[in-house]
Amino acid sequence: MALPPNFLDELRHRTPLAPLVQRKTRLAKSGRNWKGCCPFHGEKTPSFYVYDDHYHCFGCGAHGDAISFVMQAEGLPFPEAVERLAGEAGLQVPKATPEAAARERRARDLHDVLEAAQGAFARRLHLAEGAEALAYLRRRGLTEDTIARFGLGWSGGGRGVLAAALKAEGITPQQLAEAGLVREREDGSGFNDLYFNRVIFPIRDRRGRVISFGGRILGDGQPKYVNGPETALFSKRRSLYGLDLAREGAFRGAPVVVVEGYMDVIALHQAGFGAAVAPLGTALTAEQMEELWRLTPEPILCFDGDAAGGRAAARAAEAALPLLSTERSLKLATLPPGEDPDTLVTRRGPAAFTAVLEGARSLSAALYGLLAEGRPVATPEQRAALRHRLAEVAATIPDKTLAAEYRSALLDRFFATTRPPRGGAGGFGARAGGAGGPGRRPVAAPHPRPAISQARTRGFQARALLAITLHHPWLLPEVEESLASLDLGEPALARLRDAVLAWLAEGHELDSRRLMDQLAGTGMADLSTGLLRDPGLPVAAGKAAQPRDALEAWWHFFGLLRGEAELEEDQAGAQRAWEEAADPVAQARAQQRLIRLKLTLAALRRGEWAETGGEDGMAAITDGHGHG
Ligand code: UTP
Ligand code: MN
Repeated sequence: MALPPNFLDELRHRTPLAPLVQRKTRLAKSGRNWKGCCPFHGEKTPSFYVYDDHYHCFGCGAHGDAISFVMQAEGLPFPEAVERLAGEAGLQVPKATPEAAARERRARDLHDVLEAAQGAFARRLHLAEGAEALAYLRRRGLTEDTIARFGLGWSGGGRGVLAAALKAEGITPQQLAEAGLVREREDGSGFNDLYFNRVIFPIRDRRGRVISFGGRILGDGQPKYVNGPETALFSKRRSLYGLDLAREGAFRGAPVVVVEGYMDVIALHQAGFGAAVAPLGTALTAEQMEELWRLTPEPILCFDGDAAGGRAAARAAEAALPLLSTERSLKLATLPPGEDPDTLVTRRGPAAFTAVLEGARSLSAALYGLLAEGRPVATPEQRAALRHRLAEVAATIPDKTLAAEYRSALLDRFFATTRPPRGGAGGFGARAGGAGGPGRRPVAAPHPRPAISQARTRGFQARALLAITLHHPWLLPEVEESLASLDLGEPALARLRDAVLAWLAEGHELDSRRLMDQLAGTGMADLSTGLLRDPGLPVAAGKAAQPRDALEAWWHFFGLLRGEAELEEDQAGAQRAWEEAADPVAQARAQQRLIRLKLTLAALRRGEWAETGGEDGMAAITDGHGHG
């Protein structure tokens, strides 16, 4: 039966195996797979395993995919099994015409052409003319093993060298054109190479067959990469670079990570992250997400730590929602500013990327921040607009129960982090006298508060938190983990934070002057001194504050910035760390953090802390705890 290329792939893709098998035998989840009693031989203890795309019986050796399952279970011949599954999947089985047979032959030929081209490119990398390219790859830290594993090559200088090299194998220029390797000239006078003077990255399908190529220029120059055109075998929106290797990596338990580029995937694999993939220069498509969910229920999407990265994360999150189910979600991870996964693991080692992955947030936790980012909530109209938006976005999730969960989680966050502005006299940070005298908590005597925009408030809180940190670096060991996880809003503040954490990691004496000197030395003099000179700074953030007040104030601002939902997650994480701590020192540290987080969360829930974050907010700390 001559079916066009990809039809059977598509059919298998659209036929989840476990439900099919479930019709014949009961399956129970076994890790990421399923197991049950074999439907093909009588057995009492389960030895029949169902994986994402095949089944295997360790009792009788039955083995196959969805199509062979139907053939075996129903006793149907191949064409009828295909017919039946296609009917259920809503696919039309293409007619087995002579044209289709010819097309299938061509597809097979096309695979051979691409395979031959890949071989030619790879050989050329190790010839004298490829020396510069090979040196380039080695300079970027790739080992000989990695180069071979990814099948990297050198294009040669163009002018028909590929066609000449493949002529001996009986490959015609027309075939090279169909494979997307050369383009016919407008005037029909011959063919032009698509790839010349470029390092070649073979792109393979999920089964490891070469379907196209990417080519990178050596060093600087435009365009940096050229990618193959759409062909009978290659569809950009369906392909993920590294997928063939990632399936294997994911099977062995590596986290499934989506990054941006060819080199990121390669560097990550070399650093031990065997399930990294990348889309090919575009945003992640629905088809690509489906592929990822075949590997894991929660792939991790990595985004740059700049504003563009934030926008890309927001787009990806929104695009994923209509595809979510209780078993299919995402996590979002953010890279340190100015790094891509390649530079990160190459310069700072695998642990640096592990830290990024550990900082990944579930879609539900990250979504509010992504949707609320940059939306003012100062007026009733603005607040209503954001609420509409949250409800609208949640409604795009097809599972109604899940949609309702997202909706209420988003609205909870909305109410927890934004309060209706209350009118009243007094400037920002002005203390209302009288009722709020010493010893009284603001919650007991709610003063009229000035209306302050959310952004201004968060900005103020972030600056105050950093000012405390700069004045009192001795508190860094206690707050390090929390500080690292915090969304500081402004990229400049996040950079400062990163510099402080890097300084901490270097093991210096935790002295404020030295820290300030270090920051000045890395071009952050204005930013850091500006923070400390801010006249609006609360007293507890000042240099002269008692250590205890400084620490209280730090956690106060952290609590306000972090928000209730995140604090809950932090607390659960600290609880786990405490329970699982390997040694007493780690345990004591986890316990201290756990207690801090509990206190912070409790205070936030009591509404003890005013939402302005100005001096009124600080009153709770200095009045409530400062003199105890
Ligand atoms: P980047 O510019 O981040 O490249 O583009 P990179 O992967 O870090 O590459 P190196 O480290 O400079 O070698 C990310 C991805 O966007 C696509 C490629 O898929 C690339 O890997 N891209 C980029 C293009 O398709 N064309 C271009 O000109 C540039
Ligand atoms: Mn890069």
